Amino acid sequence: MNPQAEELNKLIIKANPAIMGVLSEKGKAIFFPKKGILAQTAEAKGKKINATIGIALEEDGSPMRLKSIACNIGLDPKDVFPYAPSFGKPELREKWKEMMYEKNPSLQGKEISLPVVTNALTHGLSMAGYLFVNPGDKIIIPDFLWGNYRLVFENPFNAEFVTFPTFEGNNFNIKGFEETLSKNQGKQIILLNFPNNPTGYTITEEEAKKIVDIIKKSAESGNKVVVIIDDAYFGLVYEEGILKESIFSYLADIHENILSVKLDGATKEDYVWGFRTGFITYGVKCSENQKAVYSALETKTAGAIRGSISNAPHISQSLVLNAFTSPSYKEEKKEKFMILKKRYETVKKILEEHKEYGHVFETLPFNSGYFMCMRLKDKDAEEIRQKLLEKYGTGVISIGDMLRIAFSATPTEQIPKLFENIYDACKESM
Ligand SMILES: Cc1ncc(COP(=O)(O)O)c(C=O)c1O
Repeated sequence: MNPQAEELNKLIIKANPAIMGVLSEKGKAIFFPKKGILAQTAEAKGKKINATIGIALEEDGSPMRLKSIACNIGLDPKDVFPYAPSFGKPELREKWKEMMYEKNPSLQGKEISLPVVTNALTHGLSMAGYLFVNPGDKIIIPDFLWGNYRLVFENPFNAEFVTFPTFEGNNFNIKGFEETLSKNQGKQIILLNFPNNPTGYTITEEEAKKIVDIIKKSAESGNKVVVIIDDAYFGLVYEEGILKESIFSYLADIHENILSVKLDGATKEDYVWGFRTGFITYGVKCSENQKAVYSALETKTAGAIRGSISNAPHISQSLVLNAFTSPSYKEEKKEKFMILKKRYETVKKILEEHKEYGHVFETLPFNSGYFMCMRLKDKDAEEIRQKLLEKYGTGVISIGDMLRIAFSATPTEQIPKLFENIYDACKESM
């Protein structure tokens, strides 16, 4: 093993050996080259003559750039054209951390790592796979899951998904989660996603406490647990009593045997899907040297990033950082939230008013996010989807026996017609 990786592992073992129990073999071996090109370049920053940097500069020392590109960009060229660090732009990492505490009051007083910037959530999840998943490792996850998890974790890392039914009636299936966890002793990898894709369900505050208790008990019994938390739709919760914070806030420091890994980002929180700006943040209890552990985990993460995408887009990081410090940022976000909330409420009202819809489909619990799902009664979902496309000019997603409706992407005034079309298409094929 590379001595730099060994050095990081020693730091981790000294402060909390349980973390070594959840790192994958790749995760144990990875490091960020201390004397690599990036590190040497960083050391030369500010020197009068600097011939280290692997980009091209103009004669005046500013980043070399084409007018036809630069003319569309209002930002300072230095915040756009050069590479960003593999760890991410330092000011952005600090700001995101500060905002995380604001958005999650239960984090107060708890020490978490400095977020490392990823190429948005998918890449962050993939980095979590790199660092924590060995071939054959099981990932415990509710059965309504974002389909892309399979490409992220199964194909490259040979993980095996262990699912349990997401719901018990209209509630999260706490019992199913507990039983599934108890059947998989040793290293446990749990993947949680609220607001959930595809269902649009977020756990209640009570359910969150129960889930946390179950995970804590598992850790107390000696299991080494890594909880991967996908917070892609964070903030889009439309009902009272539903968990508004990330479950990461509760898990971050409850036990030495629990490493919480939070994946979040600007993608959906700030309506910038194509920017590719996400973060990976760690929370774990350590009796000593917690900062050193976080630094080691951040360094390993940056090493994995350096070896995959090298670094995330600089222009996107600068754009979102500027937004976060804009005086109207919070107001603008609220405005967009209210549009999505109105669509959510419109869907709820339609379902309430049109009891006849219940003859052709049953809706799954939803209270947040972008989506809601309906299970069709005695009808083939793919067939209905095709009919909706061909005859009703209406596009929806079919998943097994369900249709997934993105109310987030449907203008409010079209929502009644959307549901009417689904009903008519189902009636027609009876
Ligand atoms: C649950 C979930 N996680 C992650 C992502 C991907 O996010 P990103 O575009 O930031 O990679 C999505 C996008 O559809 C999602 O639904």
